Order: sequence, then structure tokens, then C-alpha cells
Amino acid sequence: MNKVNVLILGSGGREHALAWKISQSPLLARLFIAPGNSGTRLVGTNVPMSLNDFAGIKHLVLKEKINLVVVGPEEPLVKGFHDFFLANPEIKDIPVIGPVSAGAALEGSKDFAKKFMIRHGIPTAAYETFTADSFQQGLEFLRTLKPPYVLKADGLAAGKGVVICKTLEEASSELRGMLIEKRFGKASASVVIEEFLDGIELSAFALTDGNNYLMLPAAKDYKRVGVGDTGSNTGGMGSVSPVPFADEQFMKKVEDRIIRPTVEGLQKDGISYIGFIFAGLMNIKGDPFVIEYNVRLGDPETEVILPRIKSDFLEILIAMVQGRLNEIKPETDARIAACVMLTSGGYPGEYEKGKEIHFLKDEPESLVFHAGSQFDQATGKTITSGGRVIAVTSLGNTLKSAMGKSYETAALIHFDGVYYRNDIGFDLLN
Ligand code: AMP
Ligand code: GLY
Repeated sequence: MNKVNVLILGSGGREHALAWKISQSPLLARLFIAPGNSGTRLVGTNVPMSLNDFAGIKHLVLKEKINLVVVGPEEPLVKGFHDFFLANPEIKDIPVIGPVSAGAALEGSKDFAKKFMIRHGIPTAAYETFTADSFQQGLEFLRTLKPPYVLKADGLAAGKGVVICKTLEEASSELRGMLIEKRFGKASASVVIEEFLDGIELSAFALTDGNNYLMLPAAKDYKRVGVGDTGSNTGGMGSVSPVPFADEQFMKKVEDRIIRPTVEGLQKDGISYIGFIFAGLMNIKGDPFVIEYNVRLGDPETEVILPRIKSDFLEILIAMVQGRLNEIKPETDARIAACVMLTSGGYPGEYEKGKEIHFLKDEPESLVFHAGSQFDQATGKTITSGGRVIAVTSLGNTLKSAMGKSYETAALIHFDGVYYRNDIGFDLLN
């Protein structure tokens, strides 16, 4: 097989993990990450670039003779990044991993995702969608539900668009905020109100070439900022894979009831989809229900999934864009991977940037994935540039040993205001 030049779009811990994994492939010629972070520059070439600059990315792809583009985050996909490639004669044959906007709507529009699931018989919470015109009906619908109430802004709202209210008063006022006061701008012009699902959450992942799919290991993400799952929602403070309560029988249900019907549903709807399917699930007494779809890998789930994939991930991605995913039998590491996210104090609220990151040991026993970090050319220092700064992942034969190693490494990394949860995985120990 010819060696390929790969471009990864994004700058988080997910993209560093992707770059780290792809850089190990014998099929790789050159690796570029746009814009990347201080970690990705160690395994490839960073190119400063806004992900909204489609023309700039096209220029880069042609200049560096890129053979494969892997899109990390959802936003460019929802905005039509893949469609842009297909519509451009010069780049239309360069494969992009990540769906066209019609497929990315699974993440970009909650209403579209709910209709898709209902249409294809995929288990999810009962729901209705309302706009400013049907605000009164929305209030009436809330009155028919039992608390807690789940309200979701239809569009992308930087992870803040889901609000869970304990009382009817709170829910009614939130609905007014979203629909009438336009709290999330255009994103809350429509609001999905849905039944509250009571269970344990996990993240399931698959790859698809549009016809075939491949299940990836599942992971559990710790979304709340505080110890004991308290405080605000974040992008994710830590993760663990595999998930002890997602046994083989449960994952078979996920494949049969969710992943396969999703791939078939996309086909039936005439949406060509090459990319990742990330189903946020609720395990309710052993049965999976979809909370939400994402059209990308999770962050920090990727940081525990990729270290458990023993096979050449680039070979898998190439098979995917060639429609040969059925030929791939990936090998998984049976060990447990556990990740803790080091964040800037104050995240997910306000926090400071530009703090120097000190690594007290050059070769820790863990994988150190950078997220919100930046290399300062002038001083040669690595500084913080985001809320989630470093993801530390370790593998172990037990969750306790994996997590223990990650915490040992976390203690060797320092920057002003560093904060991390000290209880990742603890709920899974018994
Ligand atoms: P999202 O911002 O879409 O990731 O959703 C944030 C969180 O809200 C999810 O991770 C769930 O914990 C919770 N959530 C969303 N929908 C429901 C639901 N129908 N029932 C219970 N919890 C939910
Ligand atoms: N960690 C959850 C997400 O990536 O959406």
C-alpha cells in the first residue's frame, strides 16, 4: 500500500490522541495537524489555521499533497466542511473522515436526531419540539410530564444547550428563556422537551464507511466538574474504558438496537456517511437508550479508546474511506485505560490562560495528551491556552492500578491554578 499524508483538524486532547496513534502507523508518510497544540507538534507538523477557513484548508491540502483528512470536532462538519470538498473539483477525490452536513445534523440539530431515531425505531426518550409560536403548547406539554424536566436547544450551543430542571416553575421559565428571550440565539429557536431517562450514562462508538460498521470500545466520561459528580457540566473531566456495566450482552444490544439501525437508517434516508458515530447512551436496567448523537469521537473518551486499540488505526481509516471496513478485524487491549483531565482553575467558568506548564518528569509511565496547551516559540515554553489542559491516560490490569498511575503522573505536572477531579473511576470500583 502507498504511504499517505494525513491532515487532522482540531486542537484538543482528542486530536493529540489521534495524532499519537496515527503517527505510529507504517502507512504514514507525513502528518499535519491544524491548528494542533503543544503536544501534537511532537508527533507531526502543526499548521496555524482556523477550522472555519475552508479555503485555507483546501490550500494546505493541495500544497502538502494530503491524501486523507480526519475531522476532529463537529462544528466544521455541521457547517458543511465535507460538502465543501465534494463541491470542489480540485479536492473532491481527497477522502474526508466525517459526514456531510446532512449526516452531521445528527449532532447539529436535536430535533433532526429525534425524528431520525423515531423514524428508524431507535430507542430514545419520548419528546416534542416547540418554537416561539408554540410556546404556550410547550408550557402545556411540560404540565403533562413528571419532574425532572429535560429541555434541549435544537442547535449547537457549545455544550450548554441541555438544561435539566427540578420543578415545573423552573422548566417553564427556562423554556421562556430559550424560545422567547433567545438565550442561545438561533440555537434555541427550536427546543426539544423530552422525558427524563433515569439510568447510568456511557459513550458508545462506531466507525462506518456508509455500508459496514465497526464497533470501537465503549467508555465512561465524567462530565461534572466536582468530586462525586457535582457542580457544572464540562466537556469531560476524565474517562474510563472499558465500562464495567457495559458487558458483552449489553454491547450486543447497543449494536443491534442502535448502531446497526443508525447505519441502515442513514442509508434509507439517502445520507452518505463516512465517519464516527458516537452515541451518548443511558443504560436503563440493562437496556440502552440514546440521549444524543455526536458525529465525532468523544473528548476525553478518545484518550482511553485509542490506547486500547492494538491494530494500526490508520489502516482502519484507509479501509473506511475505501469502503472495506468489513475486511478489518481490529485487536483490542484487554487492559483498562483510565484518564484524568488537568484543567485551568475556574473552568468551565472563567479561567486564566498563559500559565507555564511544568513537566517534572520527561518520560512518565502514562500517556500525556495535550489539550489546551500552546508552544510559545519565543520562550520555548509550553503554556496553557484553554480550560482543559492536559489529559493523562494509563493502562493497567485493574481500574485501580490504571487510575493510580494516572494520578501519580498528574502529580508531576504543574501549572498555576491546576485543578483535577481526584475520584475518576471510583464509582466503578465496587
Ligand atoms: P449534552 O449537553 O447533550 O451532552 O447533555 C448533557 C447531559 O444531560 C447528558 O450527558 C445527560 O447527563 C443529560 N441528559 C440529556 N438528556 C437527558 C435525558 N433525556 N434524561 C436524563 N438526562 C439527560
Ligand atoms: N466527552 C463528551 C463529548 O466529547 O461530547
